[in-house]
Amino acid sequence: MIITIDGPAGTGKSSVSQEVARRLGYDFLDTGAMYRAIALAAIRQGVALDDADALGDLAERVQVDFDWTQNPPAVRLDGEVVAHLIRQEQVSSAASKVAVVARVRDAMVKLQQEVGRVRPNLVTEGRDQGTVVFPGAKLKVYLDATAEERARRRKLQLEAKGEQVDYEQLLQQIRERDARDSGRAVAPLKPAPGAVVIDTTTLTQQQVTEKIVELARERQ
Ligand code: DC
Repeated sequence: MIITIDGPAGTGKSSVSQEVARRLGYDFLDTGAMYRAIALAAIRQGVALDDADALGDLAERVQVDFDWTQNPPAVRLDGEVVAHLIRQEQVSSAASKVAVVARVRDAMVKLQQEVGRVRPNLVTEGRDQGTVVFPGAKLKVYLDATAEERARRRKLQLEAKGEQVDYEQLLQQIRERDARDSGRAVAPLKPAPGAVVIDTTTLTQQQVTEKIVELARERQ
């Protein structure tokens, strides 16, 4: 069974998806990591982030896949594990620009559907997994939370890593990225038809995980 988990950044989506996969013994696919890998390739090769044709060529030229022996599976760019290089702010910002390009999305969607064929017990996490990539998935989940709560969570995360950040600036960045992800012409971020929408603002990650595992067991 395929479980799609979509929603904006800061909803705990990634941790929850990994934990749901672990509890059910399913594979876990982080599709954001794929857009991040393309963004890293663009930065490394000096491809302009507003040049849709060049980004489309790049996405069709490079190879993005995962080392499935690692937990969580580690994204690779042309065979090189780059999982540890794609979480910097520069790559995050570039990824949301790369992700508006239709040819980049087409290339990633094909790869994701192929993963779904090879690994049919899958928890797949992203923005368009329920709307575009796996519209027939047995369980589709959309996680949400207010922008303020997501900025607060992000601030705590960064502070835990020893980084000092301004809350207002984080909130502004989150709003800008939301606007880009929801406002784009191709595969805008929104709940899929039939998706279970969970507002995580006042829930712990454990509560959200529990809810999704319960839904999955009901539908198995
Ligand atoms: O979830 P994330 O922050 O790692 O995603 C990185 C960027 O890629 C973010 O701007 C949203 C975009 N993305 C997307 O458009 N479609 C997906 N399925 C996953 C991520």
